[in-house]
Amino acid sequence: MNNYFITQKPYSIQDRKESKTIDLVNKGLRFLKTGLHIKQQDTSVDMNTVEQRINYYHLIDSVIAYNVPGEVIELGCFTGQCAILFEKVIEQNGSDKKLHLFDSFHVPFTFKGNVEEELKENFRLAGLKQPIIHKGDFKDTLPNELPEGIAFVHIDCGFGGDKYAHRDVMLHCFESIYPRMAKNAVCILMDYYDPEENAQGIDINPGVKLAFDIFFKDKPEKIVALFGEMYNHAYFRKM
Ligand SMILES: C[S@@+](CC[C@H](N)C(=O)[O-])C[C@H]1O[C@@H](n2cnc3c(N)ncnc32)[C@H](O)[C@@H]1O
Repeated sequence: MNNYFITQKPYSIQDRKESKTIDLVNKGLRFLKTGLHIKQQDTSVDMNTVEQRINYYHLIDSVIAYNVPGEVIELGCFTGQCAILFEKVIEQNGSDKKLHLFDSFHVPFTFKGNVEEELKENFRLAGLKQPIIHKGDFKDTLPNELPEGIAFVHIDCGFGGDKYAHRDVMLHCFESIYPRMAKNAVCILMDYYDPEENAQGIDINPGVKLAFDIFFKDKPEKIVALFGEMYNHAYFRKM
């Protein structure tokens, strides 16, 4: 499957469900010329949106095309919905970049099963090389287990909890990755939300922007907000 944007298993958690009732209501709204339309939510993924996948694709493809040195990292991989897309782009480009995934693999109460095993199974089902897994809390694995050079990094460690606790985790992530990022390396920040830049969506993890504002206050990099439909994210390129 070379289309990264139409999500199908194992790239998604389940097959997409379309509601016939919503189709019918939309037909009625069109007939009545209301100008209104109810959007069907994409039920096939729960960790990212199709719009975000488009952004991921082009940004990781860009660092490979421009030969930015270093490896590909994800901080917070869960069962790998983003990670298998990253590995797919690496392999499709014939790149020798390695994918390093960092996670505690702590199992949330809403999840039945073994997160790490499911991650490996998703890579197997997608026919992709297994990633290099760094299991443990970031305070134990970062920065020691990071590769020397980083070309692309996705930080996605939000848990919708206390924003100051999350800000501190994010600060530790920034302190760890920043010195290892090559010039022109890309860092994508899941859940970055700025009410002036992100036209829609919700601010589910305000700790991301809190940490960015502190860490980058005296740095030259600028944040670029990306359209992600109902979830927000943003990126910066290392100068
Ligand atoms: C929203 S999920 C990541 C979703 C993932 N990017 C995907 O595509 O499916 C957040 C992940 O961050 C991890 N995480 C949060 N804080 C962490 C920490 N301090 N150390 C290690 N992992 C952490 C959680 O275990 C969880 O798997």
